[in-house]
Amino acid sequence: MEGKVVLLTGATGGIGWEILRLLVKERAKVVAVGRDEGRLREISEIFPTVKPVQADLRDERQRAEIVSMAVEGVGGVDVLINNAGYGMYGDFRGMGLEDMKALFEVNFWSAVDLTRKVLPFMGEGGVIANVVSMIAFVPLKYWAVYAASKSAMRSFFMAIREEVRGEGIRVINVYPPVVNTPFFDKAKGVPPTRRKGVPPERVAKVLIDAIKKGRQEVFLSFWDALLAHLGFLLGPLSVRLIT
Ligand SMILES: NC(=O)c1ccc[n+]([C@@H]2O[C@H](COP(=O)([O-])OP(=O)(O)OC[C@H]3O[C@@H](n4cnc5c(N)ncnc54)[C@H](OP(=O)(O)O)[C@@H]3O)[C@@H](O)[C@H]2O)c1
Repeated sequence: MEGKVVLLTGATGGIGWEILRLLVKERAKVVAVGRDEGRLREISEIFPTVKPVQADLRDERQRAEIVSMAVEGVGGVDVLINNAGYGMYGDFRGMGLEDMKALFEVNFWSAVDLTRKVLPFMGEGGVIANVVSMIAFVPLKYWAVYAASKSAMRSFFMAIREEVRGEGIRVINVYPPVVNTPFFDKAKGVPPTRRKGVPPERVAKVLIDAIKKGRQEVFLSFWDALLAHLGFLLGPLSVRLIT
């Protein structure tokens, strides 16, 4: 990873922060995107080599600015990590349509659009790495909109993987289970029993290893992979059993 330019979204959050720490250790040149001013300030204090960028990923103009900043200011993009995202928990009938669309704008469209925008500057050896979720395999009750955004992400990036393979560009999808980050507080109303999870450091390590080792579809453990695929095969029964 040494000397590679990495554009990382969601760097101010739980998993993103850990990915950032590892990238700095690996001596990558990181453009770290988030909205939280305090966390961005912390990034510039703790990691002086990192370029923190404040941007709201719902806004296409700001997405274009992030890419120009990386290309013109840092010298291209070798690795794009689409990590930013959030969940909305509860009965979808109580959610506003605009709020549901905003979630898709961040979780799905910003990843699609950033990928579209960086690909012209990415040469052979480039990597697009996505933090998806096991929920992409088994949607859960009260997570309908979030699950749909992650299924869309899985599906889109599996398809375009084959479109860019010939150019020597790799697409990695990582499927974490429940991770111990502020994600659940932000999703509001999630019962405490659903909140235990793996440490974000593990997700970060697995993602960086996948980039180095050239893996494509990545789970944190054999059991996660088995559960996801079994759940997928069982379909509606698994959704009923798990929720
Ligand atoms: N935690 C889990 O159990 C879990 C499991 C599977 C997958 N994931 C996925 O992992 C990724 C990281 O989540 P996390 O657990 O680390 O949650 P987190 O701590 O809440 O971090 C979320 C990150 O996304 C950024 N973000 C959200 N909306 C944004 C917007 N409009 N513009 C720019 N940035 C925005 C946040 O930035 P600001 O705070 O600066 O706005 C923050 O850096 C997400 O895609 C999530 O879906 C999480």
